[in-house]
Amino acid sequence: MNKHIWIIASFVFLFSCNKEEVKDDSFVLEQPEGFPAMQIPSDNQLTKSRVNLGKKLFFDKRLSEDSTVSCASCHLQPMGFADNFQISPGVHGNLGFRNTPTLTNIGYAEIFFMDGGVPTLELQVLNPIENPDEMNMPVPQAIERMAAIPEYQQMALEAYDRPFDAFVLTRAIAAYERTLVSGNSKFDQEVYQGKNVFSQSEQNGYQLFLDKGCADCHSGFNFTDNDFHNIGLYEIYTDIGRKRVTILDSDEGKFKTPTLRNVELTAPYMHDGSLASLEEVVDFLNTGGETHVNKSSLIQPLNLTVSEKADLVAFLKTLTDWDFVNNEKHGIYYTYE
Ligand code: HEC
Ligand code: HEC
Repeated sequence: MNKHIWIIASFVFLFSCNKEEVKDDSFVLEQPEGFPAMQIPSDNQLTKSRVNLGKKLFFDKRLSEDSTVSCASCHLQPMGFADNFQISPGVHGNLGFRNTPTLTNIGYAEIFFMDGGVPTLELQVLNPIENPDEMNMPVPQAIERMAAIPEYQQMALEAYDRPFDAFVLTRAIAAYERTLVSGNSKFDQEVYQGKNVFSQSEQNGYQLFLDKGCADCHSGFNFTDNDFHNIGLYEIYTDIGRKRVTILDSDEGKFKTPTLRNVELTAPYMHDGSLASLEEVVDFLNTGGETHVNKSSLIQPLNLTVSEKADLVAFLKTLTDWDFVNNEKHGIYYTYE
């Protein structure tokens, strides 16, 4: 009898020990109705420890020269991971030349920056850190500073089985960014989840969005064709857009089609933040834009009535996903266990 109890007790002991040692680190990425599977590089599959590390880094101001600016200083969750400045201040209040874009569903993007100058989410991380108008830290210096923090060393070993280095820094932040999935807006509920939630005005706006050619560029589940277009914002562009990368005159004034998800929260609009509101964007598009040799033939005068313009704006606001914006898991105080 005694012997039996001892055997059972030692089994229970062994089992509970095992359970503690083999922590389940797998991360299950949310995949909303209507969304394809996200393409994730094989050397950076998502795990909880990678996402936790990336999130900590995303919010850490020590990645900037004077420890005043983090990624989250310009990409704020309540504003759909953008902000409301025309041009966001970096260290010392320095200003760059483009408006901060949303990071909503950034893991689905195929190319990065408005001119497509960066091919992967991992490589993108280095840019704001080094950029004098953003964080102004040479990457080797940033690595040295962060690697000296014992907590980061420990987290790097756990997440990537190697000491903290540029590989870890870029992989971890990209891993966190891929978790920023937004797919429960009113639009998703209406169109992908089959619920009847659109008002008449929102329904009209959606129809206009399809009929007036918006969806030719703002296409698919993420409202972008991942391509570059000149929409005739200017006759003469001071920011030449895609041409910065390709040096082709035919790319002058072309910018990446932005997703429209959470667009209500990310004012002002366009690459330079020159349009203050969605009403201004719709007014602009209604004119058919300025004359430019590269202007897309899809941009034409729309002859919208006052109520049609309001409907289009009402539709754009259905792309706001409050669950995403309020999801505490994306914030710094939540740790995936
Ligand atoms: C000072 C403000 C600022 C800071 C700090 C900042 N960003 Fe950005 N971010 C921007 C701006 C402006 C752009 C647009 C740049 C462009 O397209 O040329 C951008 C673009 C991006 C993009 C590309 C989005 C797209 O659709 O192509 C990603 C991803 C991104 N930032 C992530 C980060 C990460 C990660 C950090 C921290 C390491 C960071 N940002 C720090 C302002 C900032
Ligand atoms: C030819 C492709 C194309 C068509 C058609 C098009 N857009 Fe866009 N849209 C773009 C591009 C490219 C930008 C970014 C331009 C820039 O930054 O200068 C943009 C920007 C926007 C923005 C601002 C987003 C932001 O975050 O700054 C909104 C809103 C918008 N479009 C809505 C619409 C609506 C509504 C329609 C239909 C009436 C429409 N678009 C038609 C390509 C297109």
